[in-house]
Amino acid sequence: MSTVTLKSAREHRVTAPSLARRKSRGEPIAMLTAYDFTFARIFDAAGIDVLLVGDSLGNVVQGHDTTLPVTLDETIYHTRLVARAAQRALVVADMPFGTFQISPEEALRNAVRCVKEGGAHAVKLEGGVAIAPTIARIVAAEIPVMGHVGLTPQTATALGGYRAQGRTAERAKAVLDEALALQEAGCFAIVFEAIPADVTDVMMGHMEIPVIGIGAGGSTDGQVLVLHDLLGIHGDAHPKFVKRYADLRGEMVRGLTEYAEDVRTRRFPGPEHTYGIAPEELHRLHEQIPVRQRA
Ligand code: KIV
Repeated sequence: MSTVTLKSAREHRVTAPSLARRKSRGEPIAMLTAYDFTFARIFDAAGIDVLLVGDSLGNVVQGHDTTLPVTLDETIYHTRLVARAAQRALVVADMPFGTFQISPEEALRNAVRCVKEGGAHAVKLEGGVAIAPTIARIVAAEIPVMGHVGLTPQTATALGGYRAQGRTAERAKAVLDEALALQEAGCFAIVFEAIPADVTDVMMGHMEIPVIGIGAGGSTDGQVLVLHDLLGIHGDAHPKFVKRYADLRGEMVRGLTEYAEDVRTRRFPGPEHTYGIAPEELHRLHEQIPVRQRA
């Protein structure tokens, strides 16, 4: 790579420090989940700043009811696909349930695998005060960590289900304490999920690092959505905070139905989709192989 190319790639690459600068300038950050090369390349070209290889892959890619079954190897595999496509975006690997709770050393070992084998630029961990020492350990090894508080799907059962968090003054204060512990531990950014907008407004006054919201109102430094929700890829009910920007499922079903109909009626393939052979070669072929009617 020439010096000029290297310089322009560096200037455009989103990094943990560049996100901090964006926050200080008041420029909102667009983050989206991604799980494979093709989608990641489109999102990167569209200017999405952060690609999160979310453990939501358990739901939207693998068809599980929860994110809990996702393994570290699966996360690394999907991160590798996304990282291969990302020219500009920051790629964050979401550490799956069970890969960072046992001990800070094991968490660090697994975070290193996300970076080394998956090509992640950063990792994300769900949780608050209890995992702050683990986050500090990973940050001390120079791996940028994104925190995640509020509704943390990996512990949804303990939280009483998939519901908004911080809806009483005590619970809101607890969520803020979790976020502050993560900020103190050295997170470069943090996700606020499913928190009442008024509570987020209060919390934002205490946050020095970029905050990316999902169902946390409009005052955060950025927003994140799950790609299948945003593009309308699955037909399932979606949470209140999702805005659908496309109906890809409807468009895909329409296209596939038309394709199946074309195949059944032999409208596809047409002459424009078919390879030819020179007439003299076809003639020679007929001389060598007699034409037989199909059974
Ligand atoms: O796994 C995921 O997709 C996430 C986002 C919803 C923040 O954690």
